[in-house]
Amino acid sequence: MEVIIQPDKKAASSLAARIVAQLIQRKGECVLGLATGNTPLMLYKELIRLHKQGELDFERVTTFNLDEYVGLSPSHPASYTSYMWENFFKHINIPAHRVHIPDGLAPDIPAFCRQYEGAIKAAGGIDIQVLGIGTDGHIGFNEPSSSLASRTRIKTLTKQTLEDNARFFNGEENVPHHVITMGVGTIMESRKCLLMAFGKKKADVVARMVEGPITAMVPASILQMHPEAVVIIDEAAASKLERSDYYRWVYDNKPDWQKY
Ligand code: PGA
Repeated sequence: MEVIIQPDKKAASSLAARIVAQLIQRKGECVLGLATGNTPLMLYKELIRLHKQGELDFERVTTFNLDEYVGLSPSHPASYTSYMWENFFKHINIPAHRVHIPDGLAPDIPAFCRQYEGAIKAAGGIDIQVLGIGTDGHIGFNEPSSSLASRTRIKTLTKQTLEDNARFFNGEENVPHHVITMGVGTIMESRKCLLMAFGKKKADVVARMVEGPITAMVPASILQMHPEAVVIIDEAAASKLERSDYYRWVYDNKPDWQKY
């Protein structure tokens, strides 16, 4: 696991954008796994800026989103489909048929999930999976106790996640209780995982993910087993790490060929 501590969210997001941009510029045709929530907003802003400057072409980029609420139509303002088009896709030149977001209205959820997994495989697998982390340690919506080998499926949200997301729904009672999410095993098959976390609220869970034991109680801790997991955090989110001096030392001493 590579832990990169940046002075603030802006610097962290620019670095994450550089990693994603390098993939698109190098490969052209590539597959991104995308996340929603507050965390990746500045990353998307920066990618939009690079696109508008003529540095990034999304014509051959395919995307798969991590998750969606069950029962919300794509046009619902709090759906992740709305979020993605509003905050990212409508500002870039990605062809709509290359965008994949779980269908919260799928009549047969298990069949839909199998089909989603098949579509990721058919696209050649995910090159970079962008991730946030929930205060309870979830990635995607894989809540604590999720199988670390799980695939795309329906999950029930924890009370903690309902509270965290109440702000998007005018109160906790309106947050859907079920979601479709890529599984932990699905996420682990991505060639690179790029997890960002910002703010003091994430400091505890970041320490548990990076320095705690690998456990289904903190699903993000499985990233310790990923050959290319990059964790980009701000100072506040890094504040509970025991080995932060070492992570800074490693980053400052990266050989030139390894730098982003
Ligand atoms: P946030 O959510 O980016 O809004 O903090 C992260 C998550 O729940 O995965």
